[in-house]
Amino acid sequence: MSKPMWSGRFTKTVDKIVNDYNSSLPFDCRMYKQDIRGSIAHSAMLAAQGIISEKDADDIRNGLLSIQEDIDSGKLTFDSDAEDIHMFIEAELTNRIGDAGKRLHTGRSRNDQVALDQRLYLVDESDEITKLLTDLIHNLRNIAIAHTKTYMPGYTHLQRAQPITYAHYLTAYIEMFRRDRERFEQAIKRANISPLGSGALAGTTYPLNRLMVAEQLNMDSVSLCSLDGVSDRDFAIEFASAASILMMHMSRMSEEIILYSSQEFKFYELDDAFSTGSSMMPQKKNPDVAELTRGKTGRVYGDLISLLVIMKGLPLTYNKDMQEVQESLFDVIDTIKAVLPPFIGMLKTMTIRKDNMEAAALGGFTNATDLADYLVRKDIPFRSTHEISGKLVHYCIEHNTSLEKLSLDEFRQFSELIDEDVYDAISLETCVNKRTLTGGPAPETVMEYLRSVE
Ligand code: ARG
Repeated sequence: MSKPMWSGRFTKTVDKIVNDYNSSLPFDCRMYKQDIRGSIAHSAMLAAQGIISEKDADDIRNGLLSIQEDIDSGKLTFDSDAEDIHMFIEAELTNRIGDAGKRLHTGRSRNDQVALDQRLYLVDESDEITKLLTDLIHNLRNIAIAHTKTYMPGYTHLQRAQPITYAHYLTAYIEMFRRDRERFEQAIKRANISPLGSGALAGTTYPLNRLMVAEQLNMDSVSLCSLDGVSDRDFAIEFASAASILMMHMSRMSEEIILYSSQEFKFYELDDAFSTGSSMMPQKKNPDVAELTRGKTGRVYGDLISLLVIMKGLPLTYNKDMQEVQESLFDVIDTIKAVLPPFIGMLKTMTIRKDNMEAAALGGFTNATDLADYLVRKDIPFRSTHEISGKLVHYCIEHNTSLEKLSLDEFRQFSELIDEDVYDAISLETCVNKRTLTGGPAPETVMEYLRSVE
């Protein structure tokens, strides 16, 4: 086993069992690009400040770029006993360029280095995640535009409540996913702050230019307390929290996709390419994508809880426990990137059974509120009209019919004030079209909203 960089004060080499246990290389190797980028910025700044020579900085830069190339091409692999990606790269650099490599770490600690790498990694990933979310939002918007007049029941308690449209239903999810996108953007804004210059915990006496490093790395600012700089992992927790809320939304939608594609609802028909069969039951078509999305939600929550528990009770500043943050964070990123594309594909390809949605909206007395409101317009107080409408519903249940199918005579047994115009007042179209308040289901209102969605 090669000598670790910190071996000066030790008289024994680390037991192999400890070295393997301690090593983060198997998972932090995925941050090699960020580590190299951070080191190039740090060394350029060291040279600009006259702390190392320009020649050393050039050698460091070229050496690091050649390492990156070799890792990219697969020529250099991570099969070493290095403790982590930071030591792996530094050792490799020193192998390649000699003493200049040993100057790279001047005024820096792995504590501020690892915090930087994780922040850069998150920022790098955020573009793809935001794009996927935007793709999801746009797809929902496009589906919704085609369905502003597709009636369906809106539910409370999973009981038919009032008629809405499928477009209106989708706008609920569009709103959720827009908030999710905003949450990610805000989390990334707070992640994009450079901790370099915090040193191990107490900063450093070298005249570093922290802002210069941040600028080179395209970061918005520098952390303002060195103790916090090395021990803060809020950015990971915030990201995992935004991801958990996103997963919760996708899980709720998945639950409805599972329900709505069942034979009991038949609102959706999943595309064959986005569903699976059963090895035993020939007739089965299973909504695996939706179910797996619901399942992965538990996994992301687990990661969030891991992060919160890892950080809870840690004394300032850096503690090795914090190495454990990485795997949970990476799992969150990997999971949401894995969930979104099939989820979007499933939504894009499924068939919407307008006929069944509309039939369901016509059943279940979803127009009972509108009947009560109709009588309010005849100057009966709402509490009384609610009672009359309820009695009419009861009558319909007993006679196995629906409100709009009652004759005027039948209506009039419950209120003399009911006229021919009742049929128009309680039609599906009227129930939906009259709800024009902001946020309501009227086709024009929903269309106006959809036009504003970016
Ligand atoms: N691999 C370590 C981590 O991820 C890097 C920081 C090590 N610092 C230390 N003081 N041992 O946390």
